[in-house]
Amino acid sequence: MDEEYDVIVLGTGLKECILSGLLSVDGLKVLHMDRNDYYGGESASLNLIQQLWKRFRGADAPPASLGSSRDYNVDMIPKFMMANGVLVRVLIHTDVTKYLSFKAVDGGFVYNKQKVHKVPATDMEALKSPLMGIFEKRRARKFFIYVQDYNESDPKTHEGLDLTRLAVWDVARKYGLDDNTIDFIGHALALHRDDRYLNEPAIDTVKRMKLYAESLARFQGGSPYIYPLYGLGELPQAFARLSAVYGGTYMLNKPECKVEFDGEGKVVGVTSEGETAKCKKVVCDPSYLPGKVRKVGKVARAIAIMSHPIPNTNDSHSVQVILPQKQLGRKSDMYLFCCSYSHNVAPKGKFIAFVSTEAETDNPQVELKPGIDLLGPVDEIFFENYDRYEPVNEPSLDNCFISASYDATTHFESTVTDVLNMYTMITGKNLDLSVDLSAASAAEEY
Ligand SMILES: *[C@@H]1O[C@H](CO)[C@@H](O)[C@H](O)[C@H]1NC(C)=O
Ligand SMILES: *[C@@H]1O[C@H](CO)[C@@H](O)[C@H](O)[C@H]1NC(C)=O
Repeated sequence: MDEEYDVIVLGTGLKECILSGLLSVDGLKVLHMDRNDYYGGESASLNLIQQLWKRFRGADAPPASLGSSRDYNVDMIPKFMMANGVLVRVLIHTDVTKYLSFKAVDGGFVYNKQKVHKVPATDMEALKSPLMGIFEKRRARKFFIYVQDYNESDPKTHEGLDLTRLAVWDVARKYGLDDNTIDFIGHALALHRDDRYLNEPAIDTVKRMKLYAESLARFQGGSPYIYPLYGLGELPQAFARLSAVYGGTYMLNKPECKVEFDGEGKVVGVTSEGETAKCKKVVCDPSYLPGKVRKVGKVARAIAIMSHPIPNTNDSHSVQVILPQKQLGRKSDMYLFCCSYSHNVAPKGKFIAFVSTEAETDNPQVELKPGIDLLGPVDEIFFENYDRYEPVNEPSLDNCFISASYDATTHFESTVTDVLNMYTMITGKNLDLSVDLSAASAAEEY
């Protein structure tokens, strides 16, 4: 291993695989290693069902009534993609779409006043939504029309409001929207994870609402989300293949992967099985550089196997339900993810549901109750937690670029933001994602 790599990537989680794909396409010399003998790291979809039985039930295989474990393709970190979102743009930009087939997600719902409602995303849906009373519906409709027509580069559509200066609160007050309306808009359409957005410039929230509505418009009704057939497990490998096409080297099953530093603390290489590969930069998940990350929280979740869709979601065979923090008296939102045989992730007639949130107490199982109560009867349910880490190093000093652990959200927006920020830090430039989505959609198998 005498040659020097521009970048050594450690761990084959989704974030790391997207980065090694993008960096290879940029012409950098990339070596990608993983201590495991499979792709995906934390986000792997490796026989989850079998693992769950081993870990929680002490049995080798699930009961026969649940069907064959081979028919389950359950992701450890399940997340839906926004149809017009950044991840889809990355997939099209890199042509990785050719390795995958997607299918639209049936429903996007929000929990409000103890009930589950379809998320209204357009002025027409606002008028029909039972989330609001008759007068509030009309006010919300006006606001939705404003957002639909808003064009950043055309001041005529701004109606005299400078959204780069006005906070979300100010704009909501101008339209006379009540707290309940702002709450579902902020959390279920704009996908904010806490209430900080209320005091931030409204432009970001308006753009997020537009993304939701435009993603939704690509399909009939349903939701703005898409999800790969057979789950996300195909995604890291698709990026690995992309990297290989551009000269990247992949090595699985490499024990230890010790990152080496020079006297000034700058990374110089990675050692595995007594051999050191030299490099200028290291990209990795938190587990490869435990001394340069700190624990910032814990994700609590329940994984359920069911024989029916989530009640009150219009028989959706794939669905996301967002439970905004305020509706639960919590600090962080809760998320329901459900997918089924219609996406080829479970045997015929079976549904897999995840309930997840950021743990706020020492008893996360109790915290998850409001989400679990929405599932109806379950065939089986498992509880587990994992710690979340964030980097604390200074990449400009040590040339180490560490991803943050996956959060509790059941969509990809925050994950991809982390990846793009890392890309910019590593390369010093922004990724050009101005792809033509309309041209691409014809080629995809939705
Ligand atoms: C936004 O406004 C610019 C400038 O007037 C115009 O060129 C562009 O086509 C508009 N975009 C949309 C989607 O209407
Ligand atoms: C329920 O789903 C059907 C299609 O499966 C759709 O036509 C209908 O609009 C949906 N209803 C609601 C309230 O979302």
